[in-house]
Amino acid sequence: MIPGLLEMRVPGDKSIAHRALMIAALARGESTIEGLPDAKDIRSTALALGELGVGIDWPEGGYTARVTPASTWSRGASLECGNSGTTARLLAGLLAGLGLPARMDGDESLRARPMDRVVYPLQAMGARIQYLDSADRLPLQFEERASGSLRVLRYRSRISSAQVKTALLFAALAAGVEFEMWEPGRSRDHTERMLSYLGLPLAFGAENGGSHLLLKAGALEALQPFDVRIPGDQSSAAFLLASAILAGRPLRVVDLCLNPTRTGFLEVLEEMGVEVEIEVTGEWGGEPIGAVSVSPAPLEGARIEASRVPGLVDELPLIAVLGARARGTTEISGAGELRVKESDRLSAMAESLQAIGATAEERPDGMVISGDPQLVPRGRVRTRGDHRVAMAMGTLTVIPGAEVETDDPECVSVSYPGFWRDSATAGGLG
Ligand code: S3P
Repeated sequence: MIPGLLEMRVPGDKSIAHRALMIAALARGESTIEGLPDAKDIRSTALALGELGVGIDWPEGGYTARVTPASTWSRGASLECGNSGTTARLLAGLLAGLGLPARMDGDESLRARPMDRVVYPLQAMGARIQYLDSADRLPLQFEERASGSLRVLRYRSRISSAQVKTALLFAALAAGVEFEMWEPGRSRDHTERMLSYLGLPLAFGAENGGSHLLLKAGALEALQPFDVRIPGDQSSAAFLLASAILAGRPLRVVDLCLNPTRTGFLEVLEEMGVEVEIEVTGEWGGEPIGAVSVSPAPLEGARIEASRVPGLVDELPLIAVLGARARGTTEISGAGELRVKESDRLSAMAESLQAIGATAEERPDGMVISGDPQLVPRGRVRTRGDHRVAMAMGTLTVIPGAEVETDDPECVSVSYPGFWRDSATAGGLG
């Protein structure tokens, strides 16, 4: 380890936090979750569960929540998911599995995102769900159904989406039925890890380049109240690592989730010439945890193809930013999913990079960036209210001489409220 190396921590993993809260809501007693990120998306999940009758004791500004399952589930709740696609899609599975009548809505960005991907397979299981406005979009109405009356589903998904996989797992779990699924790629497996860690009968793993899982009927009976600690979010750490690299400084981030379905960005950093050291130091709640250190180096362009997208889907905007300061071309393909995230991230990133003087071209399923290691970014970025666009572009502010302004710096609080302070620290400005 380099002496005097700056060591930082990032907020707890957002994906694991949503799952921990929802799984705790199904347990038969009080659970404690430590290390929650104080992020708007996680507050959306906590509030929605509260509306359904779940007891969530999570003080404002705190990192620990105590979750008490509902003594009786509320019927006819109106659930507001804010900006959070994970809240909406995972909760859809939970509502379907429990047979609870409820209405679900979200903000303008979430209302523009597809819901068929969870609604279709849930309907195939027997759930009664209706679109209230337009097809494939929120708001949604869930009709009452006798609990435990869903059908067994064996599902070959065309897309690799952890949100879809988890929604269906939650539906089957809550309804007590068997569920089997195959995905073409390997999306993040936090739900599978947490359920297995808690002793539920679930088999999962890689299969033919994709993944397969099998949940046994009646699995919920094994779910006891639990205490878990959530490790740092790899997707938040990525921004700090990038800030350090762009500022030419080394950095070590500790207590980080090192789940292999989330570390694709670190491999790309290595391909771009950065020295990356990964140390696994333990396991929390079924997730490998440890430290990641980077030593900066002149960046080289990278090539990202479809098969790698699930393992770094949320880091693609950031890879585009690093590509803008690299020697050579960075090419991203097979990433059409970016068009249906919190914004159309292919369009938003091409526009933002052009706005600060970089050369970036949008493609139907990706983008091409012609890098310039001497680029001094200057311009105003339109974030479209998308936290990851704001943070990816925000890392550029650490470059000497940079003048990058963002129209909505506050939107980072969806996942990482302390981003601006932490990025400045990582970049040596703090
Ligand atoms: C998430 C899965 C990913 C990711 C999102 C969080 C999750 O979405 O982009 O930020 O927690 O399951 P998809 O599953 O739709 O790819």
